[in-house]
Amino acid sequence: MAITSIFNDAFVLTWDFILTIVDAVTPSHPAGHVVPAGHPGAGGEWPEYVSPGEGDSRCACPMLNAMANHGILPHDGKNISFKTMNETIRSTYNFSPSFCYFVPNYIARALDKDYFKDTFDLEQISVRNDKGIEHDASLTREDVRFQPDQGKPHIPFINELLATASGKDTSAEDPENALMLTSDDLARYSAKRRTDLENIGGKLDFIHKMFGSSNSATLLRIVGGHVSDLRPFLIDERIPDKWEPAIRSRVGLTMARFNLTVLPLEFSTRKHMKALAKAKKSG
Ligand code: HEM
Repeated sequence: MAITSIFNDAFVLTWDFILTIVDAVTPSHPAGHVVPAGHPGAGGEWPEYVSPGEGDSRCACPMLNAMANHGILPHDGKNISFKTMNETIRSTYNFSPSFCYFVPNYIARALDKDYFKDTFDLEQISVRNDKGIEHDASLTREDVRFQPDQGKPHIPFINELLATASGKDTSAEDPENALMLTSDDLARYSAKRRTDLENIGGKLDFIHKMFGSSNSATLLRIVGGHVSDLRPFLIDERIPDKWEPAIRSRVGLTMARFNLTVLPLEFSTRKHMKALAKAKKSG
């Protein structure tokens, strides 16, 4: 790793730590005011959804595709600067500035591109190399050996995942909106996907397990876990009308705070995998 990358990462982690402290003492946005005024989605008004057409570039990330489908990123998914990605994931999903700098920077490195000067097409985000984020055993995509186009959601997996939802939002006025996916539901389904992968001779390395649990954790912390929101996000890659990020803090979700959801989810996935292996052994 180049020395500049080490300094860059140390700087981002320190920045993130400071933001986490600032966040703890700063009042949150009132409900309905998370997306900043003047940005797409302010007041729950998202730009029109247009499904991707022939030639549009899409990737393995449903949340980035959703931004392109609403024209928050270019609808053709092409020639996007890393800085644009940073600014738009900040205003759309309310991740902290440290996260919004770190992840585009990370993928720029995986693509051997310059964060400050270069652009990318969404499909390039699905890069598979030792630095890339894309991996097998995803919750919303078939493995690349079965589906080379990782821009396409695999609807049976998504339906299967959402059917496991066991949580209830007791404050929901409409029972249609009460059903919630829990961390344990996600861990159980991830364990199933990882076990299926191992049964055909594949395996995830440590970093891709962590990416898997991080992606899953966004469904709880950013989307909010309601099945009625997750369905349009994951199936059509569409942002539901009136939706806003579940995280209302002014700083946004820092990496440190995010890990409080990611790590238990990853541990619980491992626990479910062990249980599946034990059940298989005992016939
Ligand atoms: C620069 C920003 C981002 C990059 C480079 C990125 C990249 C990726 C990639 C490569 C995948 C595929 C992983 C796999 O193979 O399963 C993915 C999946 C995913 N990402 Fe992102 N992503 C970004 C931002 C976000 C944000 C802001 C959110 C949430 C608001 C998000 C949520 C997800 C989810 C839920 C998945 C699906 C995981 C699955 O199918 O198992 N991502 N992302």
